[in-house]
Amino acid sequence: MPLVEKRTNQENKIQTNPPDWSALIPVLPGDGPRSRELYAALRRLIETGALAAGAKLPTTRDLAGRFGLSRSAAVACFEMLISEGFAVAKVGAGTFVARDVPYLPTTLAKARPPEIDVAASLPCGLGVAVSDPRTLDLFRILLSRHLARPGPEHFRYGDPRGGIALRTAIAKYLRTARGVRCDAGQIVLTSGTQQGLDLLVRAAIRPGDAVWIENPCYPMAHAALAGSGARVAAVPVDSEGLDPEIGARLYPKARAAYVTPSHQYPLGVTMTMRRRLALLDWARRNDAWIFEDDYDSEFRYAGPPLTSLQGMDGADRVAYLGTFSKVLFPGLRIGYVVVPEPLLDAVMAVRARADRYPSTLAEGALTDLLNEGHFAAHLRRVRRRVQAARDALVAGLEAHCGDMLDVTVPEQGLHLMAMLKGGPDTAIVEAAKAVGVGARALSSMFIDGVPRHGLVLGFSGFSDEELRAATARLGGVMR
Ligand SMILES: Cc1ncc(COP(=O)(O)O)c(C=O)c1O
Repeated sequence: MPLVEKRTNQENKIQTNPPDWSALIPVLPGDGPRSRELYAALRRLIETGALAAGAKLPTTRDLAGRFGLSRSAAVACFEMLISEGFAVAKVGAGTFVARDVPYLPTTLAKARPPEIDVAASLPCGLGVAVSDPRTLDLFRILLSRHLARPGPEHFRYGDPRGGIALRTAIAKYLRTARGVRCDAGQIVLTSGTQQGLDLLVRAAIRPGDAVWIENPCYPMAHAALAGSGARVAAVPVDSEGLDPEIGARLYPKARAAYVTPSHQYPLGVTMTMRRRLALLDWARRNDAWIFEDDYDSEFRYAGPPLTSLQGMDGADRVAYLGTFSKVLFPGLRIGYVVVPEPLLDAVMAVRARADRYPSTLAEGALTDLLNEGHFAAHLRRVRRRVQAARDALVAGLEAHCGDMLDVTVPEQGLHLMAMLKGGPDTAIVEAAKAVGVGARALSSMFIDGVPRHGLVLGFSGFSDEELRAATARLGGVMR
């Protein structure tokens, strides 16, 4: 099911006849421009169908009188509604609700979610990058170097894939570090993995198509797929990774599979060679796509990582997603997709339609960081720090929660799995939050079947002391 159905208000039978405007717009808050508030209130009524298509709106004089606004504020509100297609003005007759406003299901018309309080990241929370002072200093110098002599790329519209210099540097890095088979022409720079996945889904998947997804899975990948109308097909993950045999048996006609083969999120297992070959074989035989999310392979602590799935694919079925969110910082919002040739035109078209092309501001600095060897040095530094943080967390868990948790020490990544000997994990997560520990419940990442219970704990971005103290508090609430 697409999120926003293509129904229009014309089909909506809700009538507001005669409209009681004061009841429909109960509160006009005092803050901010009044015309904006009135606009937002009226727009919501139109979008949710509470004001039917074609309904006559009150006059600006009437609205101004009722709500104690100036007449010009009411006129400005109507102008906004008309310019955005929510209303139409008919000379001599008045202003009416437009007939073809996109219909927003009322389930979506819910209250705004709260602002994310980034300062409130609790120790053991996920998605926190290491802030490395040397890299930040360098990045500042590189940024000012580029801003001091800005190139023409900032002042003209660019390629939907992003600048060629950064794409070339990434292609070189991926060929060497991850065995990805690619050239710069296939790389699309994105605002993180999230946009990359969204572009792929919109280019390759039609609403109703089945897409395999790991169970348990990365919640934001699930959101991208389900939100676009794909039929999310949960395929179990065991100690060898996602099982393509089960996937093929349950959902043989799926159009794609989203996987994290290097380091399954959240369980942390690496997909075995046997399963990789089976998955590639399934994709080739069914003309299906594989979306390979390789989000944290730079953080490998024991031996070299397995080469990417994309590097083993000889049939152009794998789209490879990478990101600088983990290895540098998520606020950079730079990721990339290595797009298989047959999908490239469609992905570029969707990208151009969505936001034309990526921001050029940080591209030059990031290119220099990669080409001048700073990135490799940064990686060595932060890898050491994150590995030490992992060890501190593991030691703390053993000391304070050892009898209640079964901890797997990860050889890769920024989080670990601690399986619970008792449950439920959601109650422990709530209690942990109350004492300042940011654990996540494994059970909440299952999308089907009987969930397992465990804690997903992050160790990147926190000091060893913070992590040790957090495990002591966690032990306290678990007893
Ligand atoms: C499985 C997985 N993929 C990708 C990402 C990175 O997302 P983005 O590049 O959109 O910041 C994350 C971040 O938490 C993740 O856990």
